[in-house]
This record gives sequence, C-alpha cells and structure tokens, in this order.
Amino acid sequence: MANTILVGAQWGDEGKGKIIDFLTEHADIVVRSQGGNNAGHTVIHGSKKYVLHLIPSGILRAKKTCVIGNGVVIDPVALVGEIDGLRERGVKVSAKNLVISDCAHLVLPYHRALDEQREITKGRNKIGTTKRGIGPAYGDKAARTGLRMGDLMQPALFSEKLKAKMQENNAILKALGAKTISYKSVNEEYLRAAEALQPFVANTVVFLHEALKNGREILFEGAQGTFLDIDHGTYPYVTSSNTTAGGACTGSGVPPHRMDRVLGVMKAYTTRVGEGPFPTEDAAVSDRLHAMGREFGATTGRARRCGWFDAVATRYATMVNGIDELAVTNLDGLDQVETIRVCTHYKLGGKKLEVPPTDHLQLAECEPVYIEMPGWMSSTEEAREFGDLPAKARAYLGKIAELTGAALRIASVGPGRDQTIVV
Ligand code: GDP
Ligand code: IMO
Ligand code: MG
Repeated sequence: MANTILVGAQWGDEGKGKIIDFLTEHADIVVRSQGGNNAGHTVIHGSKKYVLHLIPSGILRAKKTCVIGNGVVIDPVALVGEIDGLRERGVKVSAKNLVISDCAHLVLPYHRALDEQREITKGRNKIGTTKRGIGPAYGDKAARTGLRMGDLMQPALFSEKLKAKMQENNAILKALGAKTISYKSVNEEYLRAAEALQPFVANTVVFLHEALKNGREILFEGAQGTFLDIDHGTYPYVTSSNTTAGGACTGSGVPPHRMDRVLGVMKAYTTRVGEGPFPTEDAAVSDRLHAMGREFGATTGRARRCGWFDAVATRYATMVNGIDELAVTNLDGLDQVETIRVCTHYKLGGKKLEVPPTDHLQLAECEPVYIEMPGWMSSTEEAREFGDLPAKARAYLGKIAELTGAALRIASVGPGRDQTIVV
C-alpha cells in the first residue's frame, strides 16, 4: 500500500473508522490531521466495540504507530480520558505507538462554553454542533490567539497565557449571559493532563518525514466528511477544519507529492447529523434504518438524518478530493429495500444541475431527480467476495461508482473487520 489519504465523501460517519482499521493491516503509520473529538469513529472487533474520537483508529492494531498531527484541535482532558479508556480495555497506548504534535491547538473549557452559547443564541438557525468547542478553538487558531500543545508542555508559560485567555473569554461569556469559568480549576486540570501527555508530544512533522525516508507507509485518517469542510461544505452548516484531501497535507506537514492515492469512503445511502441542507433526505429511509437500530451518532448519540444515495454530492466530492478509489459501506442497510433510489442530478428553478450549488439556501431548494434500481431483497452480510453478492447488489454498486466517477475498491457489508470485500 502506498501513502493513502482516506476522506469521508458525504457528511461524516461514512464508516471511516471501520475502513481505516481494515486498511491499517498494510500501513505502518496512521495520522489524524484535522478535527477534534467531534469525531466518533467506530471499530468493531468481534463482540467489542471501540469508538475513537481523537486517537487514530489504527491504535487497535499492535505494532502500528498513530500520530495526532498539527492540524488537529486537542482537548487534553478528553484525550487522557480516551487513552485511559483504551488501556482499561487492554489496548496498548504508549509513546511507542502514539505521537502527538506540539503544534496542535488546544480546546479549552471556554471554547466548549462558547460553542454551546452560540448555538443557543442562534436558536432555530443553529448548526447542531457536537458542542465540543471545535469552532471556537479553530477560531482562536486563525486569530492567532490560541494555545498549543507546546505551550501546555511549559507549565509556567501555559498558566500565564491561560490566565489572559480566561479573562478575555470570561468577559465574553458574561456578556452573552453564560456562566464564567474558574481559572484555578482549569489550570490545575490541564496541568494534570499535561503531565500524562508529556511523553507523547513531539515534532510530528520531523517524525513523519523520517518515517517516509525509511520507506514507511502512511494512512491519513480523515475526520468528518467533504460536505462538512469549512471551505467546500454546506457553509455555515459545516465544521471548522478542512476535511477534504488537502487537509491531510496542511494538517500533517507531509507535502502533496508524497501522497499516492485518495480513497473516498461513502455509505450506500446518505446520512447527516446536525442541521443544514440535505437534498436526498427521506423520512421513510430514516425510519427504516432507525428501526433496524442503526444510524445513531457515535459521539452525541443523536439520530442521524437519512436519505438516498446522492451522486451529485459524491461526484463533487470526487472532484474536490481527487478521489481515485471508493469504499462503499453499509450496503447491507439496503438489503430489504424493494426499489432503491439514486439521485443523479438536481432541479432548481426548472434548471438541471450537475453540481451542488455553493449557497446553502439554494441547495436546500434543490429537488433531487432519481433513477430507480431494483433491490436484491436478500442478506449481503455473509458475502466475502464480490462474486458472493447478489447480481442486483453488484449492479447497484457499479452504478453508484459510475455516477461518482471513481473505481470501486471496497464494499462493506457489516461493521465487522471480516465483513469487507476487496473488489
Ligand atoms: P465514521 O465516523 O466515518 O468512522 O463512522 P461512524 O463510526 O460514526 O459510523 C458508521 C457506523 O456504521 C458505525 O456504527 C459502524 O460500526 C457502522 N458500519 C460501518 N460499515 C458498516 C457496514 O458495512 N455495515 C453495517 N451494518 N455497519 C457498518
Ligand atoms: P466523524 O469523523 C458527522 C457535524 C455536527 C454539526 C457540524 C459542526 O465521526 O465523521 P462541530 O462540533 O464540528 O462544530 O459540528 O458538523 N459533525 C459531524 N457529523 N460525523 C462527524 O465526525 C462530525 N463532526 C462534526 O453534527 O452538524
Ligand atoms: Mg462518526
């Protein structure tokens, strides 16, 4: 396997965690390069379920190294909790298999409070964030007023910088009518986390370039999805980082010419959690999947909105990310659907659209135009080879790959590692 960027091609929760875990068998290093603990990546091993938020999903394979790159925003207390949680379940996490960038920005309690308060203020126009403080933390980074892991590693400097930031943010919180936060307790809590994280912190850019020099193969684990990208998504109903392929370079310090392929992960249908336009949303599809106990958020537990496969969106995702290959997950979610719909283009004001409008209000007005395909009406969960799939399921996969404009490489028919078909 060469150096691979794995991205979500829809609105997040495409099954990236499962595919990363599968692909890590052939990689040496797995790198997260953007997002924070808003992500929830599920990996199922037999009867054990792991949900990773900040730590790359490669951590579950012993002997692989995981890196949290400079582009990630880290809540240090949450990260220590995640490390402890994994250790309690027997997963080895040490400075030998986890390296954290000293340039990654910190998420602080006032970021979370501001995230929550801004959502309250927005009322019915809220984004539906995960309330993990992601937007305000990236906001501080862009404003050049953020605190980084490197600061946290220098207690006196950190405390001093934190004090100034707390004064500023408590004034803002007060003005917004929200509760203020105690400097003393945040300082103590964060310095405790600093001690636990100290062995992991390094210059990850140098680490990754050394690894490349030594012929190591790297898998870049995207978080969120293309349409949650701060530039290319359904702004303002997006997250605050570049979730598309370019984010893997800026968020890790590995340059574009070292990247060999881009793998886009997408569900065989579409889901979205949080607010914002979703042209192919369909109440009957949501009801069906929720009744099967599926499509509840891995981070917040919220029910995901569900709908038909949207090839207008995935075609755009292929273009923006440079997707070469596709992993289509959750094919089994359509096992009992008699007639499956696929959106091939949109209609807006009598015009046919081949690409999604960039304006979210216009996107919300778009009417999806569907083709229909016959369902296969049988279980695919036991299929292990492409040939094991019913002919109608193969035709469906072929059609969505053709409409998306990339080669089908992986089909997933269940959450387990073995329920993965390499095409
Ligand atoms: P991620 O954020 O992209 O890693 O995706 P999530 O973990 O948030 O959500 C994907 C959900 O689908 C998880 O519950 C996975 O265990 C599950 N999953 C992934 N692939 C498949 C599949 O092919 N079939 C089924 N039934 N579940 C899958
Ligand atoms: P993974 O990596 C799905 C959504 C939120 C909200 C918007 C902004 O598991 O695919 P934020 O908290 O980032 O400011 O919220 O983005 N969102 C996700 N949706 N999967 C995710 O991550 C998400 N991370 C954020 O629901 O709509
Ligand atoms: Mg998720």
